[in-house]
Amino acid sequence: MPRHDPHSYADLAQGRLRHLSFQLQADFGRHRLSGTAHYHLERPVAGPFDLDARDLEIQAVSDAAGRPLPHSLGTADPILGSRLRLADLAGANEFKIAFTTGPRAHALQWLTPAQTAGQRQPYLFTQCQPHHARTLFPCQDTPSVRFTYEAELRLPAPLQGVMAAAPQGSRPDGGDTVFRFRMPQPIPSYLFALAAGDLVSRDVGPRSRVYAEPELIEAAAWEFAQIEDMLVEAERLYGPYPWERYDMLVLPPSFPYGGMENARLTFLTPTMIVGDRSLTNLLAHELAHSWTGNLVTNATWEDFWLNEGWTTYAERRILGALEGEGSAMLHAATGRNTMFHDMRRFGWASDPTRLKYSQAGVDPEQVMSTIPYEKGYAFLVRLERLVGRPAFDAFTRRYIAAHRFQTITTEAFITLMRRELPQIFDRVDVHAWLYEPGFPDDAPAFESALVDDVSARLFDYQEGRLPQRRTVAGWNTAQIYLFLQYLPRVIPLEDCRAIESAFALDRTRVPYFLSHFLEIAVRSGLREALPRAENLVATVGRLLITRPVFQAIAETDWSRPHARPLLERIRGRLHPITVAELERVAANAGA
Ligand code: BES
Ligand code: ZN
Repeated sequence: MPRHDPHSYADLAQGRLRHLSFQLQADFGRHRLSGTAHYHLERPVAGPFDLDARDLEIQAVSDAAGRPLPHSLGTADPILGSRLRLADLAGANEFKIAFTTGPRAHALQWLTPAQTAGQRQPYLFTQCQPHHARTLFPCQDTPSVRFTYEAELRLPAPLQGVMAAAPQGSRPDGGDTVFRFRMPQPIPSYLFALAAGDLVSRDVGPRSRVYAEPELIEAAAWEFAQIEDMLVEAERLYGPYPWERYDMLVLPPSFPYGGMENARLTFLTPTMIVGDRSLTNLLAHELAHSWTGNLVTNATWEDFWLNEGWTTYAERRILGALEGEGSAMLHAATGRNTMFHDMRRFGWASDPTRLKYSQAGVDPEQVMSTIPYEKGYAFLVRLERLVGRPAFDAFTRRYIAAHRFQTITTEAFITLMRRELPQIFDRVDVHAWLYEPGFPDDAPAFESALVDDVSARLFDYQEGRLPQRRTVAGWNTAQIYLFLQYLPRVIPLEDCRAIESAFALDRTRVPYFLSHFLEIAVRSGLREALPRAENLVATVGRLLITRPVFQAIAETDWSRPHARPLLERIRGRLHPITVAELERVAANAGA
């Protein structure tokens, strides 16, 4: 039976999940999440039914009446995990499974109090995208299957629980609290999410609230205060917000991403709280996923560019409306350069530089990069500039309306373009953009006075003139980031020190700057920077920030001997996703 998704054992010909009912409890001592799930199927299933499972202990599989159902757990594939086969559902449309997560479930990070802002309570959070939901509970772990759910989450008092769902209240029970949730809109498994910790909340808009540790709540509420303006703008572009509420959760610094668009409750890195709202493009991005991704979803991770390319496009449209096109183009220019870094990292003609290619046998996390985001974005801007914004916006709205709560493949998208925008096929090599490696010659250029200002100072630097504090004093965060990003990775030590001083990098609140600066410092041999570089890797989980710095430590002769000991020292504090990635970096560097 050919699988329809190379990253899942689900066989959609057997049937589909429709609704789950969870009873979960978190054991912070043993680092286990355990419980039962009652599964409801779209229709009765005769014969076997396959689920994805990984590092899970399956305690029992039974029918609705509690009678055991024969099942078998296949051997573990390094990428997919195991197939859990229920031998024969014999016409039933429901079943139950009792399970416990493994101690190193990829979807979970268990934090000690010392790893949180308040240092009083432990913290737990999930990250299921792309294929980690199967380490939490058995499921058809493919974006092509959607389900609604309700859940009870039992936590030791006084921890607060949140889920990417509608809260339904809580009750004390013994020394525990049982939190109840209901997810009325159907989601793919990768948007399942929960967190627990010392959490408080603050309303920041008529349909939005932010959750964070008490220490961060005020700063977070201020930083995210524009959320309603963003919602209004996004609705103007793409139609009514389809998930009722847009709430936000601030994670501890080890969160491995900038943001994660868990439906109804976006998860955000605390490193974006910088006190000037300059990194809220990240918020616009996660919000945009409410339409492009969560509502219209890539059929498999092979079509990831449809999620991220469209979301990057929508993010910059929201930003353009709120801050001006110049700001959107500044982010586009930065994004393109990050993409070129990624293309160089994978190789210019390598598969990951294609928007779509077969990922059978490929770990989706290993080929994760900004390429689907930025090449996808460039493709969409190419089309927009060809047909004009009004026509492109109308096309986008029809695309979203026609596929809401469904999935889309690249091939179905091409069919849609042939029908709706036939004129583009005479002018754009759509096939080359979507299937060929590298970056097409007809990519759109991104121009803005904000970018020109940075380019001029970069030119100065090439000519031997260092940036002066007063010439860059008026720059915004994205401009400084762009400047640092375009600097050569190896520069004279005096230049390192001068740049550090021009941008006051010794006391910056923006870890994103340090990512570039410390990479350059280590590669350039600025030995006094090593403790700061190590500290950044130890404390910031966001891979975009951490990977370049760790890679510099591992690849540079003088610092290489420090890479392994560093990784061993901090391993226990890092997110499992971060550990796996840094392991790959260390191995590639021979560290
Ligand atoms: N959905 C992604 C994060 C993700 C992608 C997690 C693939 C796991 C696998 C999220 O929307 C995202 O793209 N986050 C970006 C921020 C954005 C502004 C580019 C990130 O975390 O860097
Ligand atoms: Zn995204």
